[in-house]
Amino acid sequence: MELIKVKDYDAMSEEACAFLVERINRLENPVLGLATGSTPEGLYKRIIEKYNQNEVSFKNVKSFNLDEYVGLEKDNPNSYYYFMKDKLFDHVDISLNNVRVPNGAAADLKAECEAHEAAIKAAGGVDVQLLGIGANGHIGFNEPGTPFTSTTQVVDLEQSTIEANSRFFDSIEEVPTQAISMGIETIMNSNEILLLVSGENKADALAKLMNGEVTEELPASVLQNHAKVTVIADEAALSVV
Ligand code: GLP
Repeated sequence: MELIKVKDYDAMSEEACAFLVERINRLENPVLGLATGSTPEGLYKRIIEKYNQNEVSFKNVKSFNLDEYVGLEKDNPNSYYYFMKDKLFDHVDISLNNVRVPNGAAADLKAECEAHEAAIKAAGGVDVQLLGIGANGHIGFNEPGTPFTSTTQVVDLEQSTIEANSRFFDSIEEVPTQAISMGIETIMNSNEILLLVSGENKADALAKLMNGEVTEELPASVLQNHAKVTVIADEAALSVV
């Protein structure tokens, strides 16, 4: 794992932007694995700036999102589909035919998980997978205890995750209790992984990831087994490493 230490959230976003833009420009038909949450927001803002300065184009990019809440329609402002359109897709030249966010409102969720997995394979796999990390060490919505052999599936969210994400909802009762998430194996199959970590509330998880054992109890620890991982972390996130 390569660790890039930066000062703060802005510096992390800047560094991550340079990293992704370099890959998008270098790869002929880039396939990106994208993430939601507060962590990548600054990165998406900067990428849009680069797009507006003609320094990057998404014309040949395909993307697959990591996860989506079960039960939320695409036009629900709390859905991850909505987030992606709002924070990135609507502002760059990506074709919506080339993006796939799991459909959490699908009638047959199992079939939807299989379809997500199959679409990733059909695209030739993910070149660069962007990840954040939960304070409990989750990646995507793969909570502690998720088998490393998991592929895209419906998962139950931990109470701590529901509480952490309730900040985006009007009330905690509105936070879905389930999600579709790419599995650990799906994530590990990507060629390259970029993990962004910012803030003190992620410091324990990051310290365990960097120094602890590889265990399903800390899903992110599996990244130690991947050949090409870059971690960009700020000082607050590194405060207990
Ligand atoms: C969320 C998402 C993850 C994200 C993580 C951290 O629940 N499902 O994909 O990486 O938890 O979120 P944030 O970046 O908002 O701290």
